[in-house]
Amino acid sequence: MNIVLLGYMGSGKSTIGQILARKLNYNFIDFDDFLQEREKMTIREIFNVKGEIYFRKLENKYLKEVLEIQPTSVISLGGGTPCYGNNMEIIKQSGHATVYIKVAVEELTARLWKARAERPLLAHQDTPEKLDEFVRKHLFERSFYYNQASIKVLVDGRSALKVAQEIKSRLF
Ligand code: S3P
Repeated sequence: MNIVLLGYMGSGKSTIGQILARKLNYNFIDFDDFLQEREKMTIREIFNVKGEIYFRKLENKYLKEVLEIQPTSVISLGGGTPCYGNNMEIIKQSGHATVYIKVAVEELTARLWKARAERPLLAHQDTPEKLDEFVRKHLFERSFYYNQASIKVLVDGRSALKVAQEIKSRLF
């Protein structure tokens, strides 16, 4: 059984996933990196050149592949991966453990304001207020999907190490 991490951009999926994988002696896969390596393009380039719809099709295509990966792995998905097409159904039907890493919106926007340039969906939010408004609405829409995860972990200002420990203790 693999462990699949879901959550909004900036929730720390990759950092927590790497720590969790090390603790469990599992492989770690960042799905954004997996997709970028397969396509030999960065996500920013894919969005710029081909557009978001094309990117979502790629996500759907590689999702099926990544979920079948061996050996046992911790997989951190992109923030939007569970929220398009039948992706959440595919994730649930794969039978892997699913973990929603939930972060308060204030904490997300503070982190994302600094890191928005790397994220095509946020790069054009040019004031903290606009970013905050966008993230609140977006997170509200996406929560429907994230909440279908089998386990929800509230970060609540805790370190990635503490969150990884909680996930491990709740899964095993
Ligand atoms: C996206 C999140 C990103 C990346 C892409 C789109 C989204 O991943 O897949 O920029 O729609 O939320 P991270 O959650 O790892 O930033």
